[in-house]
Amino acid sequence: MVTIREEKIADIVAREVLLDAAYGPSRFAKASERLREGRVPADGLSLVAVDHGRIVGTVRLWHVAAGPGRAALLLGPLAVDPAHRNRGIGTALMRRAIARARLAGHRAIVLVGDAAYYSRFGFTAAPTGELWMPGRYDRDRLLALELRSDALVGARGLIAASGAFAPKPDVNMLIAANDGDRRPRRARVQRAA
Ligand SMILES: CC(C)(COP(=O)(O)OP(=O)(O)OC[C@H]1O[C@@H](n2cnc3c(N)ncnc32)[C@H](O)[C@@H]1OP(=O)(O)O)[C@@H](O)C(=O)NCCC(=O)NCCS
Repeated sequence: MVTIREEKIADIVAREVLLDAAYGPSRFAKASERLREGRVPADGLSLVAVDHGRIVGTVRLWHVAAGPGRAALLLGPLAVDPAHRNRGIGTALMRRAIARARLAGHRAIVLVGDAAYYSRFGFTAAPTGELWMPGRYDRDRLLALELRSDALVGARGLIAASGAFAPKPDVNMLIAANDGDRRPRRARVQRAA
């Protein structure tokens, strides 16, 4: 049975493998990635689908400003393991993510994706006519869903990252770990004693 739950730290490697399989290296060149890199996702809005203990789907949402002073979320990437597609997993992830975003009081969600897929969840290009993304993207694929009525009425301008910065790795810890790997095992044992 497939369950949807919040992502844990232990899921990160499986999530990245899944995204590589779904999008390939071009995923890092996407305009949406410019809004995600170096940021942490919105609280409670990193979800995974799990089937028999394996991560088979992922979706995350990120804080953005949809034009100056207009808080919204960016959805993506959404991906389902190719071996598990057409089982409703993408739909379950989307519905859970939207419900949680609404419950948390978020006002709107934007994304860049296929309208043929995302329209079933209420996303359209209508509210994004005066919004634009950083970098190259297809205008018809910039879609939005208002969680509060008229949340994007009059929205105009650049969609910009607004989430908290991801913590940088501690350089001293990295050096120590690397150094430890190079030392002879006996030296490390002596140091520990
Ligand atoms: C898009 C994706 C997340 C769908 O996941 P899924 O678990 O297979 O989706 P579901 O089972 O909930 O829904 C399947 C339906 O979506 C349709 N669908 C899947 N991808 C689609 C697309 N890009 N455009 C239009 N319809 C699409 C399927 O044809 C199927 O239609 P049906 O319900 O009429 O039979 C998955 O195919 C995926 O990871 N694709 C690669 C990455 C990607 O393209 N991401 C987002 C699209 S921009």
